[in-house]
Amino acid sequence: MTTTGTFSHIPLARRATALTGADGWRTAALDAAGLPALALSDGPSGVRGGSFGTEADGTLLPNATALAASWDESLVARAGMLLGREARRAGIDWLLAPVLNLHRTPFGGRHFECFSEDPHLTSEIGVAIIRGIQSAGVSATAKHFVGNESETGRLEYDARIDERTLRELYLAPFEAAVRRGGVDAVMAAYNSVNGTRATEDRRLLTDILRGEWGFRGAVVSDWGAARTTTATAEAGVDLVMPGPDGPWGDALVDAVRDGLLPERVIDEKLAALTTVARRREAIPAPSDEDADELLVTLAAEGMVLLENDGVLPLAHADRIALIGPGATDLTLQGGGSARVRPVPTRPLGSELADLLGPSTSIVVEPGTSIRRTLAPLADARVPGGLRVTFERADGTVAEVRTLRHGDIVFDDAVPSDAALVRVSTRLHLPEPGVHQLGIRGNGRFSARIADAPAETFTLPVPDRDPLSPLVEPAEHRVAVHGGADVDIDVTLLWDPAAEWHLVDLGHAAPAPEDDDPFDRAVRAAAGADVAIVVVGTTAEHESEGFDRDSLSLPGRQDDLVRAVSAVCARTVVVVNAGSPVLLPWWDQVSAVLWAWFPGQGGARAIAECLRGVREPGGRLPTAIPRTIDGLPSVRPIDGMIQYAERERFGTRGPAAVHYPLGHGLGYTAWRALAASARRDESAGDDGVGVGATVEAIVRNTGARTGKHVVQVFLETADEAPRLVGFAPVVLPPCAEATVSVPLRPEALRRWHHDGWRALTGPLRLLVGGHGAPPLPIDLAPAGIQTAVPPSTDPSA
Ligand code: BGC
Repeated sequence: MTTTGTFSHIPLARRATALTGADGWRTAALDAAGLPALALSDGPSGVRGGSFGTEADGTLLPNATALAASWDESLVARAGMLLGREARRAGIDWLLAPVLNLHRTPFGGRHFECFSEDPHLTSEIGVAIIRGIQSAGVSATAKHFVGNESETGRLEYDARIDERTLRELYLAPFEAAVRRGGVDAVMAAYNSVNGTRATEDRRLLTDILRGEWGFRGAVVSDWGAARTTTATAEAGVDLVMPGPDGPWGDALVDAVRDGLLPERVIDEKLAALTTVARRREAIPAPSDEDADELLVTLAAEGMVLLENDGVLPLAHADRIALIGPGATDLTLQGGGSARVRPVPTRPLGSELADLLGPSTSIVVEPGTSIRRTLAPLADARVPGGLRVTFERADGTVAEVRTLRHGDIVFDDAVPSDAALVRVSTRLHLPEPGVHQLGIRGNGRFSARIADAPAETFTLPVPDRDPLSPLVEPAEHRVAVHGGADVDIDVTLLWDPAAEWHLVDLGHAAPAPEDDDPFDRAVRAAAGADVAIVVVGTTAEHESEGFDRDSLSLPGRQDDLVRAVSAVCARTVVVVNAGSPVLLPWWDQVSAVLWAWFPGQGGARAIAECLRGVREPGGRLPTAIPRTIDGLPSVRPIDGMIQYAERERFGTRGPAAVHYPLGHGLGYTAWRALAASARRDESAGDDGVGVGATVEAIVRNTGARTGKHVVQVFLETADEAPRLVGFAPVVLPPCAEATVSVPLRPEALRRWHHDGWRALTGPLRLLVGGHGAPPLPIDLAPAGIQTAVPPSTDPSA
């Protein structure tokens, strides 16, 4: 770490300026310290760029859970490189990804942004994506440090986590990110941990992160999470975001002058920021690469085949009914700061039609809608774009902009003297009949449709979360007569005190009144050889800013699946959800394919997996529960969330598990022939424990090339088995391979009161993976000890 004095030639006030953002998405340059201005962007599933109001198309990857579902570190590293390359292309130096919080409970609103319920899988996938991002010369950020598994009251709640649970589960992925991933940045969370705000927790940010783990990068506050001056600065936050206001600035200078904070602390923070700045300087921008194929591969490799009676892969079918809300509107991503604007993609029906050829007829019927608000206004409805005029109080025009998209977030610089903003456009509504126009936002609006007099209304500002106006805005609906183009003017009175200003337009075309969409869908299924029902959730159900209340599929989707499967013997369900939902009809259908929020390659990947052009390569990174009974709660009680379940959640928890961690079928069959293990005497990163290597011999006994994931669980006397190692393998039919699975020393240790201790005694390892019975191995504490039990179940 830089010692006092390195930056002492720079006036204190100037040094302090560099420690708070210059704005929401940039740091302030400090030339004298060799620190350039750094551009930040959110990034778990794509690079949005430094603004919520972006007009630019991004590249949208599958959600984090879908990436982890590949159980494939080298593929995930390629996802990271893609993110890094995208960031460089967009001029971004510092990406706010990955999220390393755990799937403690599927009610968590940001569950879809996290990798897994399992700390080991989260660690390995996290390290892989960090290395990938940073290899492109872009700094990654391990977030949110730590205990940020809920959204309800997220700015305030206190996560009460005992030390062993904290170390073994919640801190473990961050430790791996620092020690093995070499991550440049860590984001301090909004919440408190055991009574201390995460941004003010010196034990976490300095003693553990820097002292024990040797972190040399920068700690950035989550946006608005630093709320004090000395406490956050002393604890170890290096950069307060967003800026330019905030608790530091002059107050930080005063704290030093008043002797409350050593001046050395300021210089340490500058040194930490230098680490981030050096990354970009040291690595040239990688060349651009066509990402389309990779995006389809990433999506398909994460898709999990939960059930299949042989209907998949789809052989030729004359008539296919493609049903469900996702049949017309596939949900590609969840809501919140992780959102990017994906390039337009082709619908699932067209992708399927391409693969099945002209002799297959495909009827598409959504059956039911699950949106709370109207669908976003398609760009094709505003071919001339939208004219945005900022007006001053005296009616003069301060600025005019032309935008392409009907969801406008005024996140970029706006004229400081604007009194109102007027959004004018010509809507292309060729269909005769009554269209619905939705106006969403917060604050006081007026809307003029064609020549009708303007209507004024106020949209209430939801106040449960700072992001609420953005992720759950109020909507005002107006009926608009179609059959021609219609001019509209929507005016928002500018409230300088409001945190968010948005004008977000939605639209619904006239619907036939005499026909029920649900019945139409069931009729289509009755007349089809195969029904494919795409059910799931949307960004209105899974988002940053709120947790879920229910794990049932929203709306009438369960009824739809049941009604379709009652009339079509070959019903395939595709689940298009970022996080677990309950599947009460699972035994009434022929196959269930879990597609997550698959990103912009998603429709193609689903079509290819259904058709068998690709095998769904995923294994569950998190349990799908059978019921909500026994799941940990996301709701604070008296301001606290007790992590009292310790490790007993997900697959290891008391709630009935429908499909466990690691479950996933493929299109071939596997036999586990033998497994053996040996100790590796090399110690872990912290000098504690020894590792081991498992070697598993597996054979592809099916008729096509497929993927198998060897999974190694550790059985102990006092806990349910936990994952300690895994390795994917792809083999052609009839081929056999010996798969090496490294078990890192970190996976074979326990936290005891005040430190790590290597596990002693013979270790009982269960070596398996779906389709293979577990092969137990007792690994003696010293030397090389192997056991090679033959497979007892050749049918596996
Ligand atoms: C989120 C972070 C995000 C930041 C900037 C916060 O609300 O918790 O994950 O990086 O906003 O968008």
